[in-house]
Amino acid sequence: KATLNFSDHSQAEITVKHDETLLEAAQRQDINLPNSCREGTCGSCLGNCKSGKVTLSGQAIALTTSDKERGRILPCQLTLQGDAEFSFDFSARICQPSDDTPFMASVAKLTPVADGAVLLSLQVELLQQLDFQAGQYIDIKVPGTESWRSYSFVNLPNAANNIDLLLRILPKSANGIMSSYLRDRVELGDRLLLRRGGGAFYLRDVKRPVVLVAGGTGLSAIVSQLRQLVDEKCQHPVNLLYGAAKPEDLCLLDEIESLGRQLPHFRLLCAVAEGNSEWQGKTGFVTDLLVDVDLHDGNCDVYLCGPPLMIDGVQKWFADKEITDKTFTGFKLYHEKFAASG
Ligand code: FES
Repeated sequence: KATLNFSDHSQAEITVKHDETLLEAAQRQDINLPNSCREGTCGSCLGNCKSGKVTLSGQAIALTTSDKERGRILPCQLTLQGDAEFSFDFSARICQPSDDTPFMASVAKLTPVADGAVLLSLQVELLQQLDFQAGQYIDIKVPGTESWRSYSFVNLPNAANNIDLLLRILPKSANGIMSSYLRDRVELGDRLLLRRGGGAFYLRDVKRPVVLVAGGTGLSAIVSQLRQLVDEKCQHPVNLLYGAAKPEDLCLLDEIESLGRQLPHFRLLCAVAEGNSEWQGKTGFVTDLLVDVDLHDGNCDVYLCGPPLMIDGVQKWFADKEITDKTFTGFKLYHEKFAASG
């Protein structure tokens, strides 16, 4: 038997067979612990063992020796030798089994927010509130095609069941199918088919300073997380670093500033790869902004969402400075690579 404790103080008891991992056992009993690789490498299923005799397979390479000494575990690599108790730094809400039945939503508003980017507001047609975590995504079937595209939420779940998504509109020459729909055919009231997406990039329990890093339309997930920090009345310092190709690509800045004013310690730093004569901010990449951020000696949570090059660049920046969860026990970095799709 295993007892699972979640950050919202809820608890679940499950049975674990001798030949199954804790992750498999939880899933069998409809508790969908976050996971991605299921091979012990990504760390997205990370938890803590509070008591009991357990065996971690040699494949748990996302854990350092000190992680193991501190009782950290990976449910995808863990089997039980008897009763055990575990805790997780996420709420039980995100472990609900995913329901991938498609549902409808109608286009309520379309707001251009930058050069080649729009905020798409959809009215979800579900009787119950659409539930998701700040940083997660949803799938949309591109009208007139059989293809699906994933987009991160900009807002938080709400009783009105409205969702806001930030979408890039690529130039005509790029032949993006969603871009072409948004550019040429979309009308208010259009009904779109949606599917719950999810994803393991969500805001964890905030116990220390937070650094949010966004590149391009990866900003959507980061704004959603900023909203949640405001909702939770986060008292820790929050830095939001935002990089784009050109000044005209930066968007939602007023909204970010207004959210930031509701936090006691908030700073927004922007960089563009290519400035213009009016640009007074930093010209460069988000990594050039990191030097201006107090990282509290590695005691902070970093959330990265953006194109793969940006994610790799930021991860390398931290690795070069030897700021990793291997060197600093209070350091955690979560990321979501935002694949460009039109
Ligand atoms: Fe990747 Fe467990 S799912 S480490």
